[in-house]
Amino acid sequence: MKTKNERLGEILSLAPVIPVLQFDDTETAVNTSRALVAGGLPIIEITLRTPAALDCIRAVCKQVEGAVVGAGTVLTPALMRDSIEMGAKFMVSPGASLDLLEANQKNDIPLLPGVATPSEAMGLMAEEFEYLKFFPAEPAGGADYLKALAPVLQGLKFCPTGGLSADNAMDYLTLDNVVCVGGSWVAPKAMIINGDWDGISELASNAAQLA
Ligand code: 3PG
Repeated sequence: MKTKNERLGEILSLAPVIPVLQFDDTETAVNTSRALVAGGLPIIEITLRTPAALDCIRAVCKQVEGAVVGAGTVLTPALMRDSIEMGAKFMVSPGASLDLLEANQKNDIPLLPGVATPSEAMGLMAEEFEYLKFFPAEPAGGADYLKALAPVLQGLKFCPTGGLSADNAMDYLTLDNVVCVGGSWVAPKAMIINGDWDGISELASNAAQLA
């Protein structure tokens, strides 16, 4: 049986970019996710910031072939349990509370917890995490900051999110301690509202070719 770190590493290595998205209804979630998968981005993080989020995770897991769906903004053990019940294959949190880490030890679905400082990262290294989200990447110091962590936090790999775009994603993807990046730019709100699925597939295809 593979470890959680191994499974998370495999998921995060499937594509250079993870779309990080929030949806108000399942139909939009399914259509957007189909467009992203068609463009070459199979890993999709659906954030738990809307009342429909859990239903959206379940719908995309069931209806979108090839999608590997994660739950984002998992702030509590209850949300962790609900996400797993809906079929999430990984979970992402902006930080790591003691409650969340304790709940994480009791299940088998990998967690990608967020950090913004060396002390936070060291705390999670001690808990044997190998993959961390760097959040909020741009406001916290950007690619230069993350680069400076590489020699002192050896063995850790990061997925930076927060403020990334097609313009700066490569600044991160070229760093040795970055496994992939996350962001909402591959499925802009306006394109989702207009049902511009071809446009989203094209943005996804461009993002899939980064790195
Ligand atoms: C988020 O906070 O929703 C993610 O980190 C994505 O951020 P972005 O919208 O700046 O890409």
